[in-house]
Formats: sequence, C-alpha cells, structure tokens
Amino acid sequence: MSRKLRKSIGDLTHRSLITHNNPMSPISEQYRTIRTNIQFSSVDGEFKTLMVTSAGPSEGKSTTAANIAVVFAQQGKSVLLVDADLRKPTVHYTFQVSNIFGLTNVLTRQKSLKEAIQPTNVPDLDVLPSGPIPPNPSELLNSKTMDAVLEEMIAEYDYIIFDTPPVLAVTDAQVLSHRCDGTLLVVTSGRTGKDPAVKAKELLQTAGAKIVGVVLNGKEMGKQSYYYYYGTK
Ligand SMILES: Nc1ncnc2c1ncn2[C@@H]1O[C@H](COP(=O)(O)OP(=O)(O)O)[C@@H](O)[C@H]1O
Ligand SMILES: [Mg+2]
Repeated sequence: MSRKLRKSIGDLTHRSLITHNNPMSPISEQYRTIRTNIQFSSVDGEFKTLMVTSAGPSEGKSTTAANIAVVFAQQGKSVLLVDADLRKPTVHYTFQVSNIFGLTNVLTRQKSLKEAIQPTNVPDLDVLPSGPIPPNPSELLNSKTMDAVLEEMIAEYDYIIFDTPPVLAVTDAQVLSHRCDGTLLVVTSGRTGKDPAVKAKELLQTAGAKIVGVVLNGKEMGKQSYYYYYGTK
C-alpha cells in the first residue's frame, strides 16, 4: 500500500482494510503501536471514546479510524465505529454495509441505536454508518440527543471510535471532540502544511479536546512502515 499505488484520491468507494486483510504486515504493526500508545495515554482514567480527525480533506482520517477500530477489536474488545463524517461518509463503503439508516436517523429519533448499528465481518466490530446526509450536521452532533446516544454507546461497547470531517472546514469535529475521551489528529506527510496542522490543533484544544496523539500518514520510511506515531500534548 505505497503512496505510488494509491488510487485516485477522489475514489471513496474502493477501500481495503490492511489490519483485517493482512494483520502481519508492518503497517498493521504500526496500527497496533498506535493502539498501545492510545491505551498508555490514559493511565488516569477510563478510556472509551476516541475521535479521529485532521485539518483538511483526504488526509487519511477514515483509513486511520477504520484500522484503529479493527486493531482494538482484534484484542477481543467490543468496538463500535461511528461515521460522524456527515458531510462525506465512507464507513459504509469500507465495511460494505448499507447506509440507508445510520447515525442521522438515530439523532432524529427515527431509529433506535440498536436498529441502526450493523455487524461487520471483523469479529467484535460493529459500525454505525452516517445515514442520510442531513442539512444541519453540526446541530445534530451538538444536540442533547447526541449526549444521550453517546451514553447508550458507552454502556454497550468497550470502545467507540468516531470518524469525523476536517477540523478547518466545519465545526463538527470540534463539537464532538469535547464529548470524547481522546482525539487523534492525522497529518499527511508532505501534504498537510505546518500552519493548518497547528491551527487544527488549536481549534480542537479551544473546543476542549484532549489530543492523545498525532498520526503521520503516508510517510515512506524505507520498506518497513508508512505510519509513525508520536504522542503530543
Ligand atoms: N497511507 C496511505 N497509503 C495509501 N493510500 C492511502 C493512505 N492513507 C489514505 N489513503 C487513501 O487516500 C484516500 C483518502 O483517505 P481517507 O482515509 O478517506 O481520508 P479522509 O477520511 O481524511 O478524507 C483513500 O482512497 C485512502 O484509501
Ligand atoms: Mg473520511
């Protein structure tokens, strides 16, 4: 999965999950390292909800969120991956599930959480797709219903991972970030400028996010690994 092999970036429908399809690859090993670092970042408190975001579009948020969800599930923990990118949802493509119902139906009380959640072919991993794209995503994510739904998720699963839209584009990630125990910021090697990355970090911290780390995506580090993680505060 080198960047040279990367399919056209606009192609959102063709997605493969390296941690599931090739768990022994060095890239999967890097995702497990990220998992360990996240787990160690929360020594003083229970860690259940993680949000994955980035400054701009196509930086690897969804790829990172999905693979992190898989490696948590591979530990035998029950995991729910939620597509909270209500602008450009992709979780249903990655896991090949229907997106007729999802988070937006739950937030507008048309469906119960149980009705909208779907199993995947990864053991212990369920997904909640976005559902129909609404006119008011930030409002839905910032609602009291969202708080109640989050409580329900926490009661049901060991870990809940949220895929979100870019921080600099819309406020959705910010409104979700203070509801989550941790936020992972994805930065693309050679693509994300320093200024947008710093701006995204500042916006998240102002919103009350606890940034547990930064994932440098797409970095070619010899043949061994394409992902590298370092903790930040
Ligand atoms: N490290 C990588 N190597 C190869 N392809 C990647 C990598 N990270 C992301 N991609 C591809 O780039 C595209 C955009 O990634 P995606 O995770 O959807 O970004 P975002 O959610 O930030 O918009 C997708 O087609 C994805 O498969
Ligand atoms: Mg995405």
